[in-house]
Amino acid sequence: MRVGVLTGGGDCPGLNAVMRAVVRKGVQQYDYGFLGFRDGWRGPLEGDTVPLDIPAVRGTLPRGGTILGSSRTNPFNEENGVRRIRENLAKHEVDALIAIGGEDTLGVAARLTDEFGIHCVGVPKTIDNDLSATDYTFGFDTAVHVATEAIDRLHTTAESHMRVLVVEVMGRHAGWIALHSGLAGGANCILIPEQRFDVEQVCGWVESRFKASYAPIVVVAEGAMPKDGQMVLKDGSKDSFGHVRLSGVGEWLAKEIEARTGKEARTTVLGHIQRGGTPSAFDRWLATRFGLHAIDAVRDGDWGTMVALRGTDIVRVPLAEATAKLKTVSPELYEEAGVFFG
Ligand code: F6P
Repeated sequence: MRVGVLTGGGDCPGLNAVMRAVVRKGVQQYDYGFLGFRDGWRGPLEGDTVPLDIPAVRGTLPRGGTILGSSRTNPFNEENGVRRIRENLAKHEVDALIAIGGEDTLGVAARLTDEFGIHCVGVPKTIDNDLSATDYTFGFDTAVHVATEAIDRLHTTAESHMRVLVVEVMGRHAGWIALHSGLAGGANCILIPEQRFDVEQVCGWVESRFKASYAPIVVVAEGAMPKDGQMVLKDGSKDSFGHVRLSGVGEWLAKEIEARTGKEARTTVLGHIQRGGTPSAFDRWLATRFGLHAIDAVRDGDWGTMVALRGTDIVRVPLAEATAKLKTVSPELYEEAGVFFG
């Protein structure tokens, strides 16, 4: 058995830890061979490969990013995409693929298995934690730690100058990073993509925090939208899966707050800092266990499945089901956090 491995979509801490576990168990216990494909689906599409063996993954457990590279290539948008993948897998004698990615990368894996009979197993990653069917994706915990540390630091400088600090965190469709880091960091309010926000209400919360002699920290997810406005876009460009580039809502909101309250407001955009660097202990643990179970799914020929965390167990779920709908913050959960707003 020869197994191909790829990492697609936005990188996140823990990708290397998954591959290390896959390769270690696959070689040591099942005597499998491995091949890495570069840059997500671009690798199998163009036959761009790298050797993947125990020496290649040694020392990568704490290393962020991905030793294979990543991209947002969508083979279904490429001419003869599926045929080219099939030919390259045959050429390199690859029997199965482990795709490590988010909704887009795994959505491709689901279609390749279900519609074209290509043997894929999926591993869920994304700092956004928005994949349904798994309690957590790896990368999320690290991102929340980074954002929480930033909020802690911003508290002291905000209070020294008694100004509003708006922190924009990642979260295109789901506000998990904003919610978790905002709660952990004691934010004045948390704004998420799932619930449109009222700028007047945000200003009311900001003013009440000043009245209590504290400087407010407003945490806003990049995909959050005002009640009577649109998502703020970086520019008009879209990736191969049709997603627009976000970022800018923090800057926009700070200007609104300043204009409406007369208080000085500044913005910090955390951006890719949330995705970079070494994975947290939890993410290393989760990524490692995902890897160990993904190679077991390959051994069992359980194609079209994704490994998922349920409680403390790793289970297998159909990829098609896992990618059919996003996991978003429920109104109840959001309301819970509202106790601390203002
Ligand atoms: O998919 C995860 C994510 O972190 C989103 O929250 C964000 O919109 C996107 O990646 C940005 O990624 P990039 O700048 O690499 O396109």
